Amino acid sequence: MDELVSLCKRRGFIFQSGEIYGGLQGMYDYGPLGVELKNNLKNAWWSSMVYENDNIEGLDASILSNPTVLKYSGHEDTFSDPMVDCKTCKSRFREDQLPESCNKGKCDFTEPRQFNLMFKTNVGPIDDGTSFAYLRPETAQQIFTNFKNVVDSSSKALPFGIAQIGKAFRNEITPRNFIFRVREFEQMELEFFVHPGTDEDWHKTWVKKRLDWWEKQGVPKGSIELYDVPDDELAHYSKGTIDIMYKFPHGLEELEGIANRTDFDLGSHTKNQDELNISAKVMPNNNSNTRLAIQDLNSKKWVVPYVIEPSAGVDRGVLAIMNEAYNLEDLGEGKERIVLKLKPHLSPIKAAVIPLKKNNDGLVNKASELKKTLQKLNLGRIVLENTGNIGKGYRRHDEIGTPLCITIDFESLDDNTATVRDRDTMQQERVSINDLPEYLIQRINE
Ligand code: GAP
Repeated sequence: MDELVSLCKRRGFIFQSGEIYGGLQGMYDYGPLGVELKNNLKNAWWSSMVYENDNIEGLDASILSNPTVLKYSGHEDTFSDPMVDCKTCKSRFREDQLPESCNKGKCDFTEPRQFNLMFKTNVGPIDDGTSFAYLRPETAQQIFTNFKNVVDSSSKALPFGIAQIGKAFRNEITPRNFIFRVREFEQMELEFFVHPGTDEDWHKTWVKKRLDWWEKQGVPKGSIELYDVPDDELAHYSKGTIDIMYKFPHGLEELEGIANRTDFDLGSHTKNQDELNISAKVMPNNNSNTRLAIQDLNSKKWVVPYVIEPSAGVDRGVLAIMNEAYNLEDLGEGKERIVLKLKPHLSPIKAAVIPLKKNNDGLVNKASELKKTLQKLNLGRIVLENTGNIGKGYRRHDEIGTPLCITIDFESLDDNTATVRDRDTMQQERVSINDLPEYLIQRINE
């Protein structure tokens, strides 16, 4: 973990938020390379959900949430962790993460108390505690409250899904392990609505789909274990949850949860609950003005769909992917290199174009033209690396995971070819500059 944290800071992937003022616990900022990696990961997810499935639609809902939404979702009552205070050092811990001793000696703990993890903020000009909103603790709730809007505007029939990527906030008692447990993070969530009775099959289907997807992002099944969450650990909305547990540098922990949320959420937020044959135990709702159900085309009966929810953390995804990609290679003769073997579609920079000499106009102009041509392919970021030090350029691009370095030398001016160096094998080959766009497209999409 220390090596990853150091690489992230040194190369501009991830920084402690507000570091110049001592930082803010549980918050991180993504730097120039981190934001590219994170966007690439989110795009891969979006593509695999929304673009590859005509029965999945996207959504981008507000973060600030009406408290009534989180009342009926059950979060006001149940979204809490038991916490314990140490009377000796005055620190606060999660009950399941108590230290043996604190910095002032032996701990003297209070009885556990429930601590709600939702952040609240004032809305409007008057701060008297009556007009507030929550920062959403999961992106899912706005998917449920928009259920009818999406169904009506996109004419969906079961089974279908609504996908969303966005920030979520939790006032974690003990944020830790770098970007693993933070207070502000991003989720990629799909709520997949199915006919009651087909939910268990769909649950299995989604677990398999999600494992395959993580493998394509460079997180192999061998680094993952599935955890069938026992009944006494299930979230209040879940009938069954399978957690995808990844071997993070600090231990085996949850990367993604895939829950069978039954008809709990739509059933909680709908009006006319009594008429809808809801199977989950829900709080009576007299505030909702909308029926969150779908009419069965054959029987004409109204059905409250069951929901299968694959919910993945973007930040935990970034950490897992970087951990898998990180390699320290022995090059012999006492030399070694750090290489980030990211899948090319995730790499922050797809190719670096390097003129052999930084002060030679002919080389620099040719390299600059090539950069512009390759950039227009829209594969992601292409950089012109005009430092004049090829060896240093290779080392930097190995460390940040750039799949290809393309060197423009004097031969390039004569025969319009360039040297392409592969990050993983370090092999070099001469490629015609005219063929480079096609070459790059193939390498990035492989
Ligand atoms: N909508 C369901 C839900 O939010 P969750 O298991 O609480 O379920 C889903 O969260 C995913 O969000 C987790 O698998 C994890 O990847 C990510 N996540 C949750 N809390 C987090 C935190 N404090 N920091 C970073 N990621 C977190």
